[in-house]
Amino acid sequence: MMYQKPMLKEGSLKDQVIVVTGGGSGLGKAMSTYFLELGAHVVITSRNFEKLERAKIELEQKTGGKVLPVQCDVRNYAEVEAVLAATLKEFGKVDGLLNNAAGNFISPTERLSANAFDTVIDIVLKGSKNCTLAFGKHWIDYKQPKSTILNIVTTYAWTGSAYVVPSATAKAGVLAMTRSLAVEWAKYGIRTNAIAPGPFPTEGAWDRLLPGDLKDKFDMKNKVPVGRVGEHQELANLAAYLMSDFSAYINGEVITIDGGEWLKGAGEFNMLEDVPKEMWDMLEAMIRSKKK
Ligand code: COA
Repeated sequence: MMYQKPMLKEGSLKDQVIVVTGGGSGLGKAMSTYFLELGAHVVITSRNFEKLERAKIELEQKTGGKVLPVQCDVRNYAEVEAVLAATLKEFGKVDGLLNNAAGNFISPTERLSANAFDTVIDIVLKGSKNCTLAFGKHWIDYKQPKSTILNIVTTYAWTGSAYVVPSATAKAGVLAMTRSLAVEWAKYGIRTNAIAPGPFPTEGAWDRLLPGDLKDKFDMKNKVPVGRVGEHQELANLAAYLMSDFSAYINGEVITIDGGEWLKGAGEFNMLEDVPKEMWDMLEAMIRSKKK
């Protein structure tokens, strides 16, 4: 299948230095892998340094690229500044920031403690803000001609969603930040965009979000009009495109990659998808007969 294949031509991110928060696992790791394959140097961050070290070895062996693992809790501004310093020390510059690190609890909101709510807001919104501010200040001070911020949000950033309220609240903030800074910081050569992925199963987050037999009970592909969940490579293709100069005229955009999932839930008559052909024949006859 074409969508499982790398899309950009070799060297599309040659010598770019890209920081990927949460880059040691899941979708962050998949996007990092492709950035490396396209010639970028990648800095991966996570709270778990051992996981990062394992990922560094795996990614370097797989791609032949250079990976710098830096331990960082994105909630802590000083740690984020340390990532920037380590990146500059190792590579002498930084070109792109991918705000991918996230946290989420599936839960009725009233069961969450104030601290649980804060935890998700702090990782997602404050974490994205911390990285964006630290790297943005650097790019502006340094007068770097061009740089890119890419934020991973979700389609419920604009629809909202029950049972993931802290995440929805925080992602809505990240989306507002994306669109605001796209205008404010364009004069400094900083492009700011977002991706809103639908279901892209990963071992870690997916098992945590839908534990036990919930995964089978609520088979996500049934919610997606194209009838399947996403492949990591197709998300990586989009992320690499938005990081690359090929997308130089795209700024302040959020690109949804969900097979039509959120719209399926939104359209007033979308439930008619389940109506079989024979019933359509009957319905059409009934409607036409009323007209006469
Ligand atoms: N449901 C409700 N509350 C929960 C919870 C759950 N599943 N898991 C933890 N909490 C609460 C804790 O009880 C605590 O609140 P309290 O102090 O009032 O008791 C609060 O949330 C913080 O928990 P803690 O474990 O200290 O948070 P942490 O900062 O160590 O880690 C995460 C939080 C989200 C990073 C962690 O759960 C994690 O690593 N998740 C995996 C990453 C992830 O969720 N990715 C999904 C991307 S969509």
